[in-house]
Amino acid sequence: MKRIVIFASGSGSNAENIVRYFSDSNAIEISLILSNRKDAFVHERAKKLGIPSYTFNKGEFEEAGLILETLKQYKIDFIVLAGFLLKVSQPILDAFPNRIINIHPALLPKFGGKGMYGDKVHQAVIDTGEKESGISIHYVNEHYDEGDVIFQAACEVLPDDSVNDVAQKVHQLEYKYFPEVIEKVVLNK
Ligand code: GAR
Repeated sequence: MKRIVIFASGSGSNAENIVRYFSDSNAIEISLILSNRKDAFVHERAKKLGIPSYTFNKGEFEEAGLILETLKQYKIDFIVLAGFLLKVSQPILDAFPNRIINIHPALLPKFGGKGMYGDKVHQAVIDTGEKESGISIHYVNEHYDEGDVIFQAACEVLPDDSVNDVAQKVHQLEYKYFPEVIEKVVLNK
């Protein structure tokens, strides 16, 4: 059994979708959810789903000692970032080489980097007049959104689409593909 931790900063709808996808799996278990925000809705979801969830502050995340200790305690094999805001610190990257992946709500290398998160990404896509957007699932390295891309899928952006319209289309792609890609990467398929 491979044991996964999900890091999430906000609503956690991807986290919930991933937990549900693997709930019957005998190869992968979502063992833990971690967040940098105490008030993130992902904690409510975790409680409902019966998954332990904890909050760490930015300092603890950068220093990483306590986080790594927790990951060890839960025998974590793999880290999934699903709507997570902070840059992953070097000690965590070193402890999980090629075992951290992130989902970004646009077609990288476009619309990535520091501060490009959630609706801000969709607003930038609309402001630039893009005809398509989508999702990118990639390995995490020391730079925001620059690790090797594993998978991308695109959706149409129509001239009068709102931020919410684009967000919905992107979310649908995330729900459909992210669990499958996690499964393939974690199980080396
Ligand atoms: C998702 O769309 C995810 O791709 C995005 O945040 C949203 C979180 O939604 N991630 C980023 O923007 C990372 N830069 P959720 O909390 O409902 O899963």
